Parts: sequence; structure tokens; C-alpha cells
Amino acid sequence: MCGIMGYVGHRSALPILLDGLRRLEYRGYDSAGVAVLNDGHIEVRKTAGKLAQLTEITSGPGLLHGTVGIGHTRWATHGLPTDANAHPHSDCGGRVVVIHNGIIENFLPLKEELQARGHTFRSDTDTEVIAHLIEEELYGHEQPGTGEPPRPLRGLGAERGNAETRRSGSLRITNHESQVTLEEAVRRAVQQTRGAYAIVVLCSDQPDRIVAVRQISPLIIGLGKGETILASDIPALLSHTRDVLVIEDGEMAVMTASGATVERLDGATVAKQPLRITWDAEMAEKGGYPHFMLKEIHEQPRALQETMMGRLDAPGAPELDGVSYSPEFVRGLRKLWITACGTAYHAGLVGRWVVEHWAKIPVEPELASELRYRDALIDPQTLTVAISQSGETADTLAAAREARKRGTRLAAITNVVGSTLSREADDVLYVRAGPEIAVASSKAYITMLVALQMLALDLAVRRGTVTPPRVAHIIQAMKALPGKAQEVLQRESEVASLAARLADREHMFFIGRGLDYAVAQEGSLKLKEISYLHSEALAAGELKHGTLALVTPGVPVFALVTQRHVYEKTLSNIQEVKARGGLVIAVAYDRDTEITKHTEVVLRIPDTLDDLAPVLAIIPLQLFAYYVARERGNDIDQPRNLAKSVTVE
Ligand code: F6R
Repeated sequence: MCGIMGYVGHRSALPILLDGLRRLEYRGYDSAGVAVLNDGHIEVRKTAGKLAQLTEITSGPGLLHGTVGIGHTRWATHGLPTDANAHPHSDCGGRVVVIHNGIIENFLPLKEELQARGHTFRSDTDTEVIAHLIEEELYGHEQPGTGEPPRPLRGLGAERGNAETRRSGSLRITNHESQVTLEEAVRRAVQQTRGAYAIVVLCSDQPDRIVAVRQISPLIIGLGKGETILASDIPALLSHTRDVLVIEDGEMAVMTASGATVERLDGATVAKQPLRITWDAEMAEKGGYPHFMLKEIHEQPRALQETMMGRLDAPGAPELDGVSYSPEFVRGLRKLWITACGTAYHAGLVGRWVVEHWAKIPVEPELASELRYRDALIDPQTLTVAISQSGETADTLAAAREARKRGTRLAAITNVVGSTLSREADDVLYVRAGPEIAVASSKAYITMLVALQMLALDLAVRRGTVTPPRVAHIIQAMKALPGKAQEVLQRESEVASLAARLADREHMFFIGRGLDYAVAQEGSLKLKEISYLHSEALAAGELKHGTLALVTPGVPVFALVTQRHVYEKTLSNIQEVKARGGLVIAVAYDRDTEITKHTEVVLRIPDTLDDLAPVLAIIPLQLFAYYVARERGNDIDQPRNLAKSVTVE
């Protein structure tokens, strides 16, 4: 996701920060910024757009010449990609600056409290609250005109929550010297936040150090000679040092020019041994994975977690930021249209199932390239959900606009904040997958699935079509998905051996019923686009109506069997394949003992609710496509004839 850099040493910080950010560019970003300590005060320069723009606004004689600084490239999650929302963000007094990767889940209530205490915010980001929280911990506050001495805040709430000062809204940050160390202030500030993040802080009053905290998002510290460098990823460090400290979740590092100390947020010290990095620069960009696609497949548990973060915490219903349809609109809804292309359309097929099953609203998914030219009966009592990773796909935008013309309300599910689709939609649900670089989509698809499940559940709760215990049960099962996705990834070697065995075949088939059919379509597309094998997905019941003629001895047929209500039916279809000598590879739950009576090749996934099974069942199919393509020596990240974002019709 975002790129992070930090430098404390004897050299000019700015060129090192810019060079590091350039090496992190492959991660994708929409704005960039730096903060450098210059003669005792912090200079911030930031801009929407690319590093070329940042370089332009930081060049000039002696503009930024300090030897301590931090830098950031931002991939927007809260707030549009604008100059104001670019990092670093500062406190009211300009003495504390913060860069951040990840999400502060409870930033809205924190922001409201801080504003009530007189803090002025200059951005729409979640990040800015951290700068103001640290400011309070360092400098306390006083009421203007009372002559009262400043009050450094020591506790975590009681003092700060002074009702009188809240009401007046007249609190002002004082200018006194802080008696609190920066690390202590950061610790107290982050203890008030919830979320997954990496935070890096610089303070002009404690100019010899940078403080960094990791809570899920990665942070690495490089140890040089008389200099210490921090980055969110290894490639940014490699030209300076190969000796690194990897910061773990819940740890805080204090970096000075002579090295770094690490402790846990609860204060316990951590003795860390430096690691020696042996990767070359290209391997490092991919986090040690040979391809971005494999890296992105492995990022799925985290992407799932981030997509659900802060949205499934209330027991009774999802809380979908960016979705603002009224209760009356939802009650009066007669139909949902879902429109998208390719993989995003396949996610929409899963969406259809869950919306119909939970919210009892008829749903019609339609390919965007078809919907835009169809005389579709779209009216104001419909909601059209347009799904697009990039938010820029020409057909999807055209279909969404056409639907809008016919009076529908438009909801977007997208990965890119500020994308055209997100700007044109009435409701926007961001999937928070982070930049997806491989052309073949993996983590964007899986996060679209949970976004659609959350949307379906929200509609169902509002329409009263699911009971509270069932909602609680579904939410609990959804929250378990990241851990279960991780379990599937641990079985990667089994899939890789199967791929090695089947990589020389020319045709494969995928069958399933209901949600399994939706996943079969995505599994088949993944295989086609990167392995260049011919493959086809079929509703299992359709096989005998024609395609069975192509099933000859040894032809691989993937059979997905996660849907209990049609389980036996799919078993019959498996028998049809076996009777023609086809090789059946089942994708089945761990608890399914019956399936081994029908085939000995089974790719297993952990048990979950059938409605959520697609999130897990797709993972072995993504891995299979990846390993077949690798066996065949294909260009996996950039398959022939395909582009990541299709902005032409
Ligand atoms: C396949 C793939 C494509 C995209 C499609 C839509 O792996 O990535 O099929 O899903 O081009 O792209 P977005 O989601 O950006 O609208």
C-alpha cells in the first residue's frame, strides 16, 4: 500500500527520502510528501500526483537541507487524493508531523473529540488525528484567558475529557516545552486508536529521533554507519544497507543516528537481532515472491481483514461508511442490478446470490458491455451496483451512466479512492485491497466478495429479512475468514504439485452449482488468462446438455462441492465425468468425508458458512492457475494481450 521512508543521520535527508519513495513506486500511489527538520523547525512539502511533482516542489537551493526527515507515498483510503490529504500531517502547532500506512478505525469519534477541544483539522484523513493526539500528550492544553498553567495530559481520558472545556470548545494547545518524551506521547496516542497501521512521527522539539509504531502494516529499519533508515518495504533500504530490524505488530521503534531501540507498546523491551538481506532489488519489490500475483494472493488474508475493519464491529448490522441510502429507499427497492466486467462481474455473481438469499431482493447481474446497449428496465426503485477494481473500466462506467440516466441509484464497489466510478456514484463501498499490480486480479476479487456480502447483509437487516441471531452468526463467520484464508494458503504446496502434474494439458473444465458455479467461472478465467490453456466453466447440471462430449479420458474437471443444498446433485455430475474417464479434482470442505468416495484428488478448504465459501474456494484455484502458468514459463504478471485497466471500449 502506501510507501513510508524515514532518515536520521549525517547526510542530507531529502534525496534519500525521494530515492526510497521512488523504489517503492511499484506499490502504486496517488500523492506524495516529505517533512524535513530544517534549523529547528519542520518543513513539510506535499502534493497530489507523482514523485516528479514532489521533486519539483522540494528542489531549490537549501529549501530542505536537514539530516532528519520522513517521506510518504499515499494510496488513498480516507479522503480524496488531494494536496491537503497527502501525508505528512501536522498538529495545530506544526511541531509534530505524522505519516501513516493503514486505517485508523475510530478516527471519526477521535476527530470529533479533538475538534471539540479546539484542534483545527486541515485534511479529511484518518491520519491527522494521530498528530493532534500526540500534540495533546506532549504539550497538554490551557484555556485561553484563564491564566491557568498548561496541563500536560498524563492519563488516557479522564483529564482530557473535562466536560467544561469540551463544552466551551475553547481549548488551545499551549506553547510550553514538553516534559514527555516523544515515544511516550506516541505510545499514549496510539493506545487511543483502533486499526491496522504503521505510524512514523517526527517532532521539532525532540529533533534527534524518529518514532515508529507497527500495528499490522509492515515497517523495517535499516542500520547504516552513523545513520538509520526506515521504510515500509525492503527495496527502499537496499542501496544503503542490508542489515535490518523487522518491526513486529505491537512494537515501537525509536530511531536515532546511532541505531534503533525497540519496545512493545506495553513498555516491555525487545531484544532484536539484525537480519542480513540477501535479496536483489527486483526480488525485494515483490517482497521475496517471484511474481506480484503470488504476492497479492498471499496478501489476501490482510486485504480481507482491512476490508471488514470497522464495518462489522456493531453486533446487529454492518456499518458501511460511504453508503447512505435511506431506510425508505431500501424498503421500496424492487430490484438490484449488478454490472461489471471480467473478474469483477464474477464477484457480482456471488453478490446476486447473497442479496437474494439474505435480503430477498431480486437481482440481475449483467456484463457492463451488454447492459450499456440493452433496453434494460431500470427505474428509480432499483439500485445499480457497479463493481470495478480500478473504477475506470470504460464499459462499467458507461453501463453505470446509462443506468443512472434511467433513474436508478448508483452504488460503486471499487478499490480506488477518487476513481471516476467512485466520484459518480451515490454510494461508495471501498474494498481496501491496496494496489493490485498483477494483471490477473486476486485480492481485489476476494475483497469484492466480502464487500458484496456486507452490502447484502446491510440490505437484509434494513428490510428485516434476517433475524438478529443469524446476523450475529454471519458476522462472526465473516470475521473468521482472514484466518481461514491463511490456512488455505498454507496448503499451497499441494496445489503446486497438482499444477506440475497437469500443466501440459490443453483443456480443463470447472463445474459447480449456485455459488460454486460463480467461483468456477472465476477459477476458469484465472487459468485462461495466465496459463493460456483453454478452460470453460459450466453450471454442473448443464454438462450433460452438450459439453460432456469434450470430456474424454484424463481431461481434468474441477468440481466445486461447497454448497450443501445441491451437494448430492453435484456428486451425480461428478459421476457423469468419471464415467467418461475424466479426472475429477474436487474443491471441498475439510469436514467433507463423503467426497473421497468419488475422487481421490481433493483440494481442501476450512469449513465455513456455504454463503461465504467462495472467499475460500477461489484461493486454491488462483494458486493452481498461477503454478500452471509458472510451469509453462509464461509472463504471469503481464499476460499477453491483456491490460490491467481497460479504459477503452
Ligand atoms: C481478470 C481481470 C479483469 C478485470 C476487468 C475489470 O483477472 O482482472 O477481468 O476484472 O478488466 O476491471 P476492473 O475491476 O478494474 O473494472
